[in-house]
Amino acid sequence: MGIENKLVILASGRGSNFAAIANAIADGSIPNARIIALISNNADAGAIGIAKRLGIAVRIIHSKNFRQSGQFDRIGYEKELSAVLKELQPNWILLAGYMLILGKEIIQQWANKIVNIHPSLLPAFRGLRAQKQAIEAGVSKSGCTVHFVTEELDDGPIIAQNTVEVLGTDTEETLSQRLLPIEHHTYVEAVSKLCSRSCVIRNGCVEWLA
Ligand code: GAR
Repeated sequence: MGIENKLVILASGRGSNFAAIANAIADGSIPNARIIALISNNADAGAIGIAKRLGIAVRIIHSKNFRQSGQFDRIGYEKELSAVLKELQPNWILLAGYMLILGKEIIQQWANKIVNIHPSLLPAFRGLRAQKQAIEAGVSKSGCTVHFVTEELDDGPIIAQNTVEVLGTDTEETLSQRLLPIEHHTYVEAVSKLCSRSCVIRNGCVEWLA
């Protein structure tokens, strides 16, 4: 039995990736791990109900309180987020449908500890609505990527990727639906590796140690 990894999940919405990770810890597919808190910027996030049902602590930092006449006070918001993370001291911070962009202070403070899932095969289709971008580009394959978070949006060393076929008949909704279980499996695979093996980042790539 290795040392327990303390995980903090950041989610803004539905929370299906969060649920997949929680279930995988419960059934032993992710070893040596415990989710110590869910942090959400959105009080209406489905992820909050999932956390409550699972008895996982919830911390809400309302992003809407930091929005004034269309401007988002990222520095104020991240000061609060930073204080919560400092108190929790996680080994890994997992973004699971977290729809705010993290600023460089937090990314630097938690360098190589923040992980994200993105619904495309990065470096293709960064940013919002990646599945729609894939359809519009006419690609025959897309997928999802779990990666370390760096200061560039949807960039950073890749931990795991898996593909999905894009059909001629696909809409953004059908492709997203078919990709979702692949995302769950990919995130579980990545977190399981992070919790049971060591890695280093060399030349922007993840290298797994024996
Ligand atoms: C997932 O498809 C995830 O890849 C995407 O949001 C969805 C969250 O679903 N994340 C991004 O687009 C981040 N750029 P979930 O709340 O059910 O896990």
